[in-house]
Amino acid sequence: MFKELEKINHRPEPYEFYTAEELWTNEHTAQCMLQYHLNESVDMSSRNRKFIEKSAAWIIDHFAVNKKSKIIDFGCGPGLYTTLFAESGAQVTGVDFSVNSINYAMGTAAAKKLDIEYIHANYLDFESDEKFDLITMIFCDFCALSPQQRAKLLDTFRSILKPNGHILLDVFTLQAFNKKKETATYEHNQLNGFWSADDYYGFLNSFKYEAEKVTLDKYTIIEQARTRAVYNWLHYYDQASIQTEAAASGFEIFEVFSDVAGTEYNSASEEMGVVLKAIK
Ligand SMILES: C[S@@+](CC[C@H](N)C(=O)[O-])C[C@H]1O[C@@H](n2cnc3c(N)ncnc32)[C@H](O)[C@@H]1O
Repeated sequence: MFKELEKINHRPEPYEFYTAEELWTNEHTAQCMLQYHLNESVDMSSRNRKFIEKSAAWIIDHFAVNKKSKIIDFGCGPGLYTTLFAESGAQVTGVDFSVNSINYAMGTAAAKKLDIEYIHANYLDFESDEKFDLITMIFCDFCALSPQQRAKLLDTFRSILKPNGHILLDVFTLQAFNKKKETATYEHNQLNGFWSADDYYGFLNSFKYEAEKVTLDKYTIIEQARTRAVYNWLHYYDQASIQTEAAASGFEIFEVFSDVAGTEYNSASEEMGVVLKAIK
């Protein structure tokens, strides 16, 4: 028992384990995630419906999206943004590794007679000869990746972005990092049965890595037949650090907002919407 508890409470190296697939594509959690995405009043998996509508309308207007615009959305989930982009007339592609979400998105496109290309893939392995005017990655998914994964993804973005194209992503800021506390808790059927349909005990160990500006929510899920850990990493930025990271991959910050709905940048904001362009 003591050894088990030591393992549960062990602090790994930043980004030592990548378990995003277990979180998003496990048969049981993927169903729960889809319910969260589709719940229009909460900011879980996707933001609430009111925000998404405001955000999509702002994106369409701000980037002058028209019938010739080619947009690709990384981590598109069940297509809440891609559907709105396509309804504006744009040519739209969505990429996600959750088959559940992609199937839901395809069903919506078919029902609405929208010609959206959905690609079921890990976006870290994504390659294409196509070029896009706008690349989006929304709800701070960029922060869940290690520095190496982020650099690889930015390289992919460079290879598929048209010369005058834009990237729009949102990230957590240091204001959010400063609020985060280290904690250790456990709960029977933690998060209302989110982790399994069977009975389980869920431990949550939250760690902060001050130097790296990274946090980890480490979930250890103990069922009768198995024990597994899921690692939810987040990296937090200020304008200087996102600028440095973008520049290392050949991008510059073109604009900064407090969110992906065009709200003016405010240094107290816990999130930042960033528009990147390739350095010429
Ligand atoms: C926080 S949700 C955001 C969904 C969507 N962008 C929105 O705002 O409605 C992150 C999405 O990224 C997907 N995802 C996470 N890691 C991925 C990866 N490595 N490859 C492909 N999809 C990924 C998940 O399945 C999920 O749909």
